[in-house]
Amino acid sequence: MRILSGIQPSGKLHIGNYFGMMRPALELAQKGEAFYFIADYHALTSISNPDELRANALDVALDFLACGLDPSRTVFYRQSDVPQVTELTWILSNVTPVPMLENAHSYKDKIAQGLKPNAGLFTYPVLMAADILIVQSERVPVGKDQKQHVEMARDMAGAFNRQYGEVFTIPDAVIRPEVATLPGTDGRKMSKSYNNTIEIFGDEKAARKKIMGIVTDSQPVEAPKTGLDKNIPLQMYKLVATPDKANELQAKLAAGGFGYGEVKKELLAVLMDHFAPFRKKREELVKNLDYVHEVLRKGAERANAVADETMGKVRKAVGLR
Ligand code: ADP
Ligand code: TRP
Repeated sequence: MRILSGIQPSGKLHIGNYFGMMRPALELAQKGEAFYFIADYHALTSISNPDELRANALDVALDFLACGLDPSRTVFYRQSDVPQVTELTWILSNVTPVPMLENAHSYKDKIAQGLKPNAGLFTYPVLMAADILIVQSERVPVGKDQKQHVEMARDMAGAFNRQYGEVFTIPDAVIRPEVATLPGTDGRKMSKSYNNTIEIFGDEKAARKKIMGIVTDSQPVEAPKTGLDKNIPLQMYKLVATPDKANELQAKLAAGGFGYGEVKKELLAVLMDHFAPFRKKREELVKNLDYVHEVLRKGAERANAVADETMGKVRKAVGLR
């Protein structure tokens, strides 16, 4: 089974990215042939500073490796090292109806926020479909916000296959319901673009400040708390703590005399604990960047071989040489 996912190098890795996409993706990688990549072409839609793009791309490489990606099993590469995806993007754009792209939630959201869209932002889902289809991926582990993009990739693959014959595998999104959309500190979806994230590799002081600032309802400390299914610190705590610990904390809240401030302190402690080995690994990797670059070089080689094979079929099918 082929599995593929990507993450844009558009800012610092946060616990929404980790629990929503990275951890499920790393677990799924054990069950098949995984292709994970740094979506630097996609990041051009939001980053125009070359130094920033380069630095962020290296950050994503370090993050993935520190969080446990095994490069001897998983093909790990930079998207721009596989420029064949841009050729496939062009070819797929000819089986992609404009209204489908106009309907993309993330595109509509950005326009609603007042962004003046360029063609790159508009055709973003076609590039994403090319990423997926070029490796003939069957599974795509992502957070819920990417579901529609994966559905578009399915539509493009289907339209192409109907027009030119069976070339592409139809991919399926894999979304974990319990972490489909992790809320951020302000209650909206946690996202790099909202400044409501809890970073994984930032310093502890910053994490403490963010966690203490998480919005909660205003039931007083003494009250037996109700509506706990909507409590953000508890929801985050459940992702990291053992079920026993999580139940214990929930029971204390429900009993009263135990405030949200205590939950936040516990949350900080479990998060720091959980990510400590990853932080250590990342520090080691930073001292050994040659290794990281070598991993990406080898990953690019393997991804290129697969991409060339698909593109041979695609070019033949559409009548290009
Ligand atoms: P961001 O919204 O912070 O820019 P990205 O778009 O780079 O995040 O997302 C990278 C991956 O992490 C995607 O698979 C996305 O679905 C997932 N993801 C991002 N935010 C969350 C969240 N709050 N909850 C669950 N998954 C998320
Ligand atoms: N659009 C995805 C995001 O913002 C990143 C991405 C690019 C991706 N290409 C992909 C995810 C292919 C899965 C498959 O998170």
